[in-house]
Amino acid sequence: MSRILVTHPIPAPGMDILAAAGEVEVLELDHDGLVERCASGDYSVVVSQLRDKFDAELLASAKLVGISNYAVGFDNIDVAAATARGITVGNTPGVLTDSTADIALLLMLAAARRAIESDNLVRSGGFTGWKPEFMLGTDVSGRVLGLAGFGRIARATARRALGFGMTVKFCPRPPSDREVSDEELGEFAGRVEHVSWDELVATSDFLSLHVPLSESTHHLVDTRVLHAMKNSAILINTARGPVVDEAALVTALRERVIAGAGLDVYEREPELEPGLAGLPNTVLLPHVGSATVSVRSEMARLCAENAAAMATGSLPPHPVNPEAWGHAG
Ligand code: GLV
Ligand code: GLV
Repeated sequence: MSRILVTHPIPAPGMDILAAAGEVEVLELDHDGLVERCASGDYSVVVSQLRDKFDAELLASAKLVGISNYAVGFDNIDVAAATARGITVGNTPGVLTDSTADIALLLMLAAARRAIESDNLVRSGGFTGWKPEFMLGTDVSGRVLGLAGFGRIARATARRALGFGMTVKFCPRPPSDREVSDEELGEFAGRVEHVSWDELVATSDFLSLHVPLSESTHHLVDTRVLHAMKNSAILINTARGPVVDEAALVTALRERVIAGAGLDVYEREPELEPGLAGLPNTVLLPHVGSATVSVRSEMARLCAENAAAMATGSLPPHPVNPEAWGHAG
């Protein structure tokens, strides 16, 4: 029977699916421990978390058939290096699309309407009665939402924003551009506007990030971009922290270069950039885009099915690099 290394238990029904496919060992490991276990030849598959870093060095000595990442994102894994070793990587697409789009909307609304500030004020006895100019925020309806990226989560966010009466613009692959066919636009044809990255940045009231983290999106939002945004704009990040230069963001928020930010992810998670937590014009969530009971359970099912397939000799249902399959050394 194949052995499966699990770096942190995954929710039901994940562990049962894994147990039916192989001999499961749960071990919480630091990086050196992970390197050693992956190189030991004792396991065919690792079920991993975002905090497990599969860098080129680890992968160079790894004797594995596959890695099943408990996430849709896989920037914790050097996929090119995995492919070169014939190690197939699986992820959990689709099931967390709506829950993450909900969090993007929640951050927009909370930042625009000062929900967290208001809640704190009520709890601390600061609500002394309705006043015409008390806790005024900004509108969401009628405003421009700019989507950086146009994948599943961006589209689910667009669908919600259109329901709120927003104007939706998108740039599919910032900072560069690419063609988008009418077929790809699908239900959004005529309802959303494809613009360049520069135009998206300059014209959005809310700029929401929905790109994977890669070399080309690292610090996509930097000082230059923050200064090109409207002073009244609010930045939303439910994607990956390093897409934003967090030090530059803190400076921009402090100096009112932009009006606010709603963040679910951070550059050096779980650490926060000094100064960020002290700013009133931010809404800060602890990476909860997929954090509902049913979504985490569905992610566990997909993740375990990927791992079980690889452990029993078949291509996983959700491979990131299917070309690696069958080439393990
Ligand atoms: C969470 O951030 C994920 O990539 O699933
Ligand atoms: C990720 O699931 C995306 O396509 O946005």
